[in-house]
Amino acid sequence: MEIFAHRGASGDFPENTFAAFMEAARLPVFGVEFDVHMTADGELVVIHDELIDRTSDGTGYVKDMSLAELKKHDFGNWFSPDFQGETIPTLADVLDVFDSTHHKLNIEIKSDIFPYEGMVKKVLDVIESRQLESRVIISSFDHSAIQAVAKLNPRVETAALFMEVLVNPLDYLRKIPADALHLLFPAALRLSMAEVITSGMPVRTFTVNDETHAKTLKQAGVQAIFTDYPEKMNAFLHSI
Ligand code: G3P
Ligand code: MG
Repeated sequence: MEIFAHRGASGDFPENTFAAFMEAARLPVFGVEFDVHMTADGELVVIHDELIDRTSDGTGYVKDMSLAELKKHDFGNWFSPDFQGETIPTLADVLDVFDSTHHKLNIEIKSDIFPYEGMVKKVLDVIESRQLESRVIISSFDHSAIQAVAKLNPRVETAALFMEVLVNPLDYLRKIPADALHLLFPAALRLSMAEVITSGMPVRTFTVNDETHAKTLKQAGVQAIFTDYPEKMNAFLHSI
């Protein structure tokens, strides 16, 4: 079973920062996952929440701030004073970290709350200009964004994100269309979801920090997990 470092190695480093990504980049794990929003001046930045309040010394919505304004804030100190001075990375900054590594890059487009007009095209432009099509998976809870990726560049792998237990998931996934299903941990073990695994479509599960859960998911045929503790989970999965 493959491992993705969730928001970088976010268990031991502040999520979605250079520190978390530098750590993920040195680990022998399959991939890394990170979240992308768009600023008021149309820049792509890597952060989980719509607001900067939880993970910085500032306050306000990413959509209302320019990249220059966002860059003035500290994104490390909330986690630990050891990480004071971390600034918000752009999508390009994060791709630079993984420029010469083997890691698969799961870009989660966070347009499910605010629509971020034109964001999908901007993300694809960055991927295409760096010729990263074969290394990238674009996922989103906003399935219209997934549909847009499939239309604009079918060579880029897509994944629909879900929290729920679905009825006939394959019908819906094919309709979007999505190449893979990224699913919340407990839902991945429900019977209706086995249909997706049996079909051969990749099912990847978030967020798995418990070794017992990881073992159960491996036995169920889940292709990959997203974990905040990639190094620990990698050692565990190699031990069983
Ligand atoms: O992409 C998997 C996972 O990151 C989805 O949930 O809220 O952690 O972005 P969230
Ligand atoms: Mg995410």
